[in-house]
Amino acid sequence: MHYLESAVEIAREAGTLLANYFERRVVFEVKGEFDLVTEADRASEKLVVERLRSHFPAHAIVAEEGSGHESASEYCWYVDPLDGTTNFAHGFPFFNITLGLERAGELIAGVVYDPMRQELFTAERGGGAYLNNRRVRVSRTGRLTDSLASTGFPSRKRRHNVNIHFYYQLAMASHGVRRTGSAALDLAYVACGRLDFFWEFGLKPWDMAAGLLLVQEAGGRTSDMNGGPHDLRKSDHVLADNGVLHEEVVGALGEIFRGQLRVPLPAL
Ligand code: IPD
Ligand code: CA
Ligand code: CA
Repeated sequence: MHYLESAVEIAREAGTLLANYFERRVVFEVKGEFDLVTEADRASEKLVVERLRSHFPAHAIVAEEGSGHESASEYCWYVDPLDGTTNFAHGFPFFNITLGLERAGELIAGVVYDPMRQELFTAERGGGAYLNNRRVRVSRTGRLTDSLASTGFPSRKRRHNVNIHFYYQLAMASHGVRRTGSAALDLAYVACGRLDFFWEFGLKPWDMAAGLLLVQEAGGRTSDMNGGPHDLRKSDHVLADNGVLHEEVVGALGEIFRGQLRVPLPAL
């Protein structure tokens, strides 16, 4: 079955739809306290779920805006119809559509498509990672002090998120930590070496499925923030890195978890 080819076709179609909405500047609604959703999220999800259901009627689908499809199939698609909604809603051109496919609990195919730059990131288990059909690999950066990283902060329950401590310590220890507003693109950027590592708390399976496979297939490592195995459905924090930096980053994260802060926050 041509799972990846179908996923690419669907992601390109949804990406064009998102780009059209973006040009027209859609209005947004607030779901919960700070979580934004737009007509574009829903229209993209409708398109993606319709296409997946017509190509693969037996497969399960887990989609962010809730229009998935339950099934006992060993195949499950994770769909984020618009990753980076806050960026999108403000006219900040950094967002994507992403689809990841799992078979019997193992990720086997993934696509992240950025319609603003027309960058298509793809991976299949065992087949490598690609950007616009050219093979990509993670960076070779060997020291935390020479690295560029990225992280994210949730819009939901943001007051309970401890990530600012991690952000500050790692920003002081590296060349910097970006906060792009799109977890799937962060992971894709680790896969192609634009970033050396990425971590975040509280992501959902649809944010990560394709991106984790991209990093693995590009020669990088994925784990939880303690360096333990990452479970797509259960782990509430994630680390993706170029492999070389893994032990050093896990060590630095461990210090922060234990409250050992290398650099105190400056006084106001
Ligand atoms: C969000 C983005 C953001 C991350 C948030 C996600 P959404 O996804 O990936 O970068 O920091 O945790 O929820 O809501 O724009 O699909
Ligand atoms: Ca998302
Ligand atoms: Ca989304």
